Amino acid sequence: MQQAPFVFFCRPGFESDCAAEVQAIANTYELAGYANAQTDTGYVRFYLFDDATSERFFEVLDLEDIIFARQWFWAKAELEDLPLDDRITPIIEVGQEIAVGKSLLVEHLDSDEGRELSKFCKKFTTPMTIAMEKQGLISEDSEYRLHVLFLETDHCLVGYSPLERSSHLKGGILRLKAPKNAPSRSSLKLDEAIQVLMSRSQQREALRLGNTGADLGAAPGGWTFQLVERGLQVTAVDNGPMDKKLMATDQVEHLKENAFTWLPKKPVNVLVCDMVEKPSLVADLMAKWLESAHTQHAIFNLKLPMKKRFQEVADCIDLICDRLEDADLTYYWQAKHLYHDREEVTVYFRLTSKINS
Ligand SMILES: C[S@@+](CC[C@H](N)C(=O)[O-])C[C@H]1O[C@@H](n2cnc3c(N)ncnc32)[C@H](O)[C@@H]1O
Repeated sequence: MQQAPFVFFCRPGFESDCAAEVQAIANTYELAGYANAQTDTGYVRFYLFDDATSERFFEVLDLEDIIFARQWFWAKAELEDLPLDDRITPIIEVGQEIAVGKSLLVEHLDSDEGRELSKFCKKFTTPMTIAMEKQGLISEDSEYRLHVLFLETDHCLVGYSPLERSSHLKGGILRLKAPKNAPSRSSLKLDEAIQVLMSRSQQREALRLGNTGADLGAAPGGWTFQLVERGLQVTAVDNGPMDKKLMATDQVEHLKENAFTWLPKKPVNVLVCDMVEKPSLVADLMAKWLESAHTQHAIFNLKLPMKKRFQEVADCIDLICDRLEDADLTYYWQAKHLYHDREEVTVYFRLTSKINS
């Protein structure tokens, strides 16, 4: 019998990257499985071969470790041809066989078809939650999150995920409003990266009034804007022009230098980089800054116009990790294909301590 699939949400068009990554994670744990990924659907189903390996996969999966997925859950039931006048009863029936959750997410995919279900899902959330509460399927003590993912108005997947290892956001999407004075829309990418990739304490430590930052490939200043908003003094390196309002804050020094060769006289607290360049060159540049401790925190984009995007990202991250290990440095990293990212992923590296100090 086919096992209940694990469902991974991704940006439409990135299904094969998400599938390759999930397969690599399963391989790491020596769990045999296979992915079913159809282009532009915005999700991947991953099947393991038996109950024991499915259980094990559920125990080890962590959204933080998955670059190309925004959300995941174990889809224990699939309901088709739901009666349109009462979808709740059949969902409750299968829900009773699945788990008690602390909360419920009624979700849709980010594909064209999926987004059409957005209003419906919003409207359905309250009655579904009330019905689940009445049936004892929602309890404060639970460690799980329940998911109902609608693929069509009469077709859904029902399942659960661990609260701490999946996203509390519907579809894993952090929706942000573009700030009024931001010089570019890509400002949102750094805002999302900070909120998703850094813990609150890391944000407090790195992004506080008076700290320093460097922005490589800064113009017109969308990323610099985010650092300035958080009180940092920023060196913006770019031959292109910077936004005038941003320059008027007196928190920005603009240098028309080559970002691949420029280094600050004194280390900065945070380095950000959004250059449209070969990913391996950007990775090498980030490794140079981190291994020489010119920064403690680095947030950067890897642009991915190529086909095998997961492999490219994995190679770039390996390159940086190898260099930091050679320098006896310990570090933390996380990478994500963020909601505001397109053909790129955003990576965060933080130096934690010196091994030999
Ligand atoms: C995608 S844009 C950056 C957008 C910026 N993050 C924002 O939010 O407004 C990339 C920038 O990198 C700059 N750039 C590319 N190669 C560079 C280099 N070697 N040195 C300095 N800047 C470079 C380009 O001039 C361009 O302005």
